[in-house]
Amino acid sequence: MGKRKIIGMLVGVVFLFIGGVYWVKANDITPPSVVIIHNTGYKRYIKGPVKFSHEKHVKEHKIACTECHHVYVNGKNVWKEGQPVKKCSECHNPIKKKGQKPMDLMHAYHKNCMGCHKQLAKEGKISKAEYKKLRRCNTCHQKKKKM
Ligand code: HEC
Ligand code: HEC
Ligand code: HEC
Ligand code: HEC
Repeated sequence: MGKRKIIGMLVGVVFLFIGGVYWVKANDITPPSVVIIHNTGYKRYIKGPVKFSHEKHVKEHKIACTECHHVYVNGKNVWKEGQPVKKCSECHNPIKKKGQKPMDLMHAYHKNCMGCHKQLAKEGKISKAEYKKLRRCNTCHQKKKKM
C-alpha cells in the first residue's frame, strides 16, 4: 500500500470517529445531573431561572422519569425511559391563552414540581418545615442577576 493511501485511510477513520461522537451527543438520552430551566417566550420574565437536579430526584429519591416526562396518546403516557426527551416548552406554550390545552408552561411546571412536593408533605414523607422551605419561591428560582 502506498503512503498516500494509508494517510487517506487514517483521515477517513478520524472523520468517522468525530462523526460518531457527534451522533452519540445528538442522541444523548441520559439525564444531565443538573439542568437550568430558563425558557424564553414568556410575556414577561419575572422570577428567573430554576436549577433542577436530576441527581437528587432520580438517584437520591428514586423518582421515576415518567413522573415528569410524558408523551400522551389517547390520554395515556407512552413515553419510556431511553427515548428522546422533548423540552416541556415544545408542548406547553409559555403564553397563557384562555382554556388552552395542554396548560401553559408556568402552570405545567408549578403543577408538576409543587404538586409532588405538596403530596409528599400530605403523606408525611417530608416534615412541615421542609415543605415550607420547598414552597418558597427562592428555593427554586435563582436571582436573575446571578445566572
Ligand atoms: C418547586 C419549584 C418552584 C417553586 C417553589 C416556585 N416556582 Fe415558579 N417556576 C418553577 C419552574 C421550574 C418554572 C419554569 C421556569 C422557566 O420556564 O424558565 C417557573 C416559572 C415561574 C414563572 C414564569 C417565568 C418567570 O420567571 O416569569 C413565574 C412568574 C413564577 N414561576 C412565579 C413563582 C412564584 C411567585 C413563586 C413563589 C410563590 C414560585 N414561582 C415558586 C418552579 C418553581
Ligand atoms: C422530578 C422531575 C423529573 C424527573 C423524575 C426526571 N426528569 Fe428529566 N428533566 C426534568 C426537567 C424539568 C427537565 C428540563 C426540561 C426543559 O428544559 O424543558 C429535564 C430534562 C431532561 C433531559 C434533557 C432534555 C434537554 O433537551 O436538555 C433529559 C435527557 C432527561 N431529562 C431525561 C430524564 C430521564 C432519563 C429520567 C429518568 C431516569 C428523568 N429525566 C427524570 C424533570 C425530570
Ligand atoms: C410531547 C408534548 C409534551 C411534552 C414534551 C410535555 N408535556 Fe406536559 N402535557 C402534554 C399534554 C398533551 C398534556 C395533557 C394530557 C391530558 O390531559 O390528557 C400534558 C399535561 C401536563 C400536566 C398536567 C397533568 C395533570 O395532572 O393534569 C403537567 C403538570 C405537565 N404536563 C407538565 C409537563 C412538564 C413539567 C414537562 C417537561 C418536563 C412536560 N409536561 C412536557 C404534553 C407534553
Ligand atoms: C414526583 C415527585 C417530585 C417532583 C415531580 C419534583 N420533586 Fe423536587 N423533590 C422531591 C423530593 C422527594 C425531594 C426531597 C425532599 C426532602 O427530602 O427534603 C425534592 C427536593 C427538591 C428541592 C430541594 C433539594 C435540591 O435539589 O436542592 C428542589 C429545589 C426541588 N425539589 C425542585 C423541584 C423542581 C424545580 C421540580 C420540577 C421541575 C421538582 N422538584 C419536581 C420530589 C419531587
